[in-house]
Amino acid sequence: MHVVITGANRGVGLALCETYAARGARVTGTSRDGSTGHRLDVADPAAHRALAARLDGQAVDLLVCNAGVFLDKAQDLAGGYPPEMWAESFAVNVTGVFLGVQALLPNLRMAESARIAIISSQMGSDTRAPGGSYIYRASKAAALNLGRNLAADLKAMGIAVGIYHPGWVRTDMGGSSAEITMDAAARGLAARFDALSLGTTGEFLTWDGRVHPY
Ligand SMILES: NC(=O)c1ccc[n+]([C@@H]2O[C@H](COP(=O)([O-])OP(=O)(O)OC[C@H]3O[C@@H](n4cnc5c(N)ncnc54)[C@H](OP(=O)(O)O)[C@@H]3O)[C@@H](O)[C@H]2O)c1
Repeated sequence: MHVVITGANRGVGLALCETYAARGARVTGTSRDGSTGHRLDVADPAAHRALAARLDGQAVDLLVCNAGVFLDKAQDLAGGYPPEMWAESFAVNVTGVFLGVQALLPNLRMAESARIAIISSQMGSDTRAPGGSYIYRASKAAALNLGRNLAADLKAMGIAVGIYHPGWVRTDMGGSSAEITMDAAARGLAARFDALSLGTTGEFLTWDGRVHPY
């Protein structure tokens, strides 16, 4: 099994790499700084093309679109949320997901039953809208919507797409008071990815297997 995971140098991405490596899978972990051996800034289209060229002819069974940023944690509605922050957040959290899928589509099509896992967030749910963090919420809602529509289009190619909330995880992003460890999130997510199939494609689930409202 060949797994490609973006944003694999720390946090949930790193824990997922460790989970799959422990299973004996071949793991291609990518990172912005190249420290994982595969350099990929997900906001850079040329970097996606370069990764695709390096993996040319190699099947990818599972693509985990994990890299993400949460830049507007403490913004003020009156004067904050600058356009540049919107642009950067969407470039990473939305366009970055799309470019990753697009670049590795030939590799996914080579696999027997390929899967794509998009790490969104419960903050992307329209039914859970407590206010604030408008940029992050909108970007994760867009990632969820992208995943739902990709699921429709890729079904005919035999590729299943799932969208996931990884839990509130103790990472740099989640903070030290978050609810679960990176390892618990990674183990839970991997179990969800195992069960993802063409029959469940388009699912939006939490790390521990609960159906999340859109
Ligand atoms: N932690 C939570 O509670 C929580 C909750 C819901 C959803 N999520 C989502 O889960 C995913 C993982 O989050 P995390 O908690 O592990 O966050 P994290 O600890 O902040 O790690 C984020 C990862 O994304 C990478 N990244 C950011 N921008 C990138 C870019 N332009 N190109 C490539 N990699 C980039 C980071 O790389 P650098 O080291 O180069 O910055 C890092 O590897 C994210 O999509 C996040 O939105 C997290």
